Amino acid sequence: MKFSTFFLFFSLFIYLSAVGYGFVYPQPIFVSEDSPLALLMRNMYEEATLIRQAILEKRSPKDVRKQFKAIYTATPTDPQVHDENFIPFSDNFLTALDQIYNNEDSAVENFNAMVASCVACHRHYCPGPIEKIQKLYIYP
Ligand code: HEC
Repeated sequence: MKFSTFFLFFSLFIYLSAVGYGFVYPQPIFVSEDSPLALLMRNMYEEATLIRQAILEKRSPKDVRKQFKAIYTATPTDPQVHDENFIPFSDNFLTALDQIYNNEDSAVENFNAMVASCVACHRHYCPGPIEKIQKLYIYP
């Protein structure tokens, strides 16, 4: 065995032992950071499923209006998302969200209108999650 080959295996052995004993934590080489907007969206999706559940069980949903105002400022993965349509889409979404709390008698219709406002913005910027978002609709 050539010395260089031996050295390669020896280094690997030392590295793996260090990982095994917890002296070294292996890191993925390509770290893809999720943008603040992507994290907010994931949270919005989770909260929307909880609001949906509350409406189906005829409970008052948790008020997430303040939390979701961050949609205006959270940094997106693609900066081009912040074009002239982004604020109007966000306004429509937050108005639809507001309706859910203002009129609990028509919570189902208002919830569906909010889901439609998620989908409308997604058609414009980010069609990937549309199928998943549409599963939130409440059918009679
Ligand atoms: C004003 C536009 C807009 C509205 C309204 C909107 N989204 Fe999004 N959404 C986006 C954009 C843009 C992204 C891509 C975010 C990024 O990668 O930075 C996104 C990403 C997502 C993602 C993927 C997140 C990930 O893991 O990368 C989900 C899920 C999502 N949105 C769900 C929702 C739901 C549910 C609603 C409504 C409750 C909603 N969105 C309303 C624009 C919007």
